[in-house]
Amino acid sequence: MEGLRIPGPTPCPADVLRAMARQMINHRGPEFAQILHDVTAKLKQLFQTKGDVFLLTCSGTGGLEAAIVNTLSPGDKVLSVSVGFFGERFASIAEQFGAEVIPLRYEWGRVADVDEIRRALQAEPRIKAVLITHNETSTGVTNDLASISSVVKEADKLLLVDAISSLGSIDLPVDGWHCDVTVTASQKGWMVPPGLAMVSVSPEAWQAHASAKMPRFTWDFTRARSYLEIGQTPWTPAVSLVFALSVSLEMMLKEGLANIVARHARVGKAARDGAKSLGLSLFAEEKYASNTVTAVSVTDALDTKKLLKIMREEHQIVLAGGQQNLSGKIFRIGHLGWVTEDDIKTIISALKIALPKAGAL
Ligand SMILES: Cc1ncc(COP(=O)(O)O)c(C=O)c1O
Repeated sequence: MEGLRIPGPTPCPADVLRAMARQMINHRGPEFAQILHDVTAKLKQLFQTKGDVFLLTCSGTGGLEAAIVNTLSPGDKVLSVSVGFFGERFASIAEQFGAEVIPLRYEWGRVADVDEIRRALQAEPRIKAVLITHNETSTGVTNDLASISSVVKEADKLLLVDAISSLGSIDLPVDGWHCDVTVTASQKGWMVPPGLAMVSVSPEAWQAHASAKMPRFTWDFTRARSYLEIGQTPWTPAVSLVFALSVSLEMMLKEGLANIVARHARVGKAARDGAKSLGLSLFAEEKYASNTVTAVSVTDALDTKKLLKIMREEHQIVLAGGQQNLSGKIFRIGHLGWVTEDDIKTIISALKIALPKAGAL
């Protein structure tokens, strides 16, 4: 359904869907090895990395778990920079596996402060890694990862990045910004159904991995690397999703990363301008507003559930509500992956009709 405008899963182009209708192949045979090799090479281009990239059969959260368990040991101190729901999840995973999490939390809707991160790192020199969400999907905020990275690297810490809803849509030069483990997932800007996480691993992350003691099996990078060398994954992969990814990556490279990033910037601006033209206010400070998801604040007069129902039933457009304590306070427009400015125009026109019916204006 092309009217699916939540921040993932995103709509998939017909060619991507068709690729999944293929018959199965041997995931330990030469054809799969060729596809995996090709997909990995293309992912490296889009991650802008010369480091390793692995495909994991899981959703994004599995990739976040992989980032933690492959680089840390129980008792390690980590600085969790959290600006929303997904920042909290990253911290919970670290805590669950025995890390000592030092939280640096921001009010939801705000961006992380680089100087505060620097001070937090100076205050506790034993911190081993920093957890950061590049693009906080729950609030529609994009952190200034380039600046955060320079502070983290100045202090010589590992940088573990949740780039689930940014990579492949918003510029993120993984090597240029010294990201040690960077995680994304297929159902976001990659235009592929849910089920694959993609993670990059830097040489520094490999060094940390060599002594990391957290329990791990399924997501062990050493296993992933040794199997990738023979064109395989350690466990049976989601073969159909790999077929789909192969097609979407081809489409992405044809468009070109710079063009994709520019398109998302235009689409993000169109969503923000469109919302404002309807008299709505943006939840995030505009300077840090995300180009993949726009969070719109709602007044008490507006019944968000009713608005989403009208949009769905009368306009065939599915938008997202707020998560956790933002439920009823915001709604979100997902605009990542297969999306154009015309799609945004359609959403804004539909909102113009639906808002008064749901109590606004
Ligand atoms: C920024 C961010 N982190 C983590 C996740 C969790 O990913 P998944 O639901 O694929 O496990 C999401 C999914 O929406 C996300 O947007």
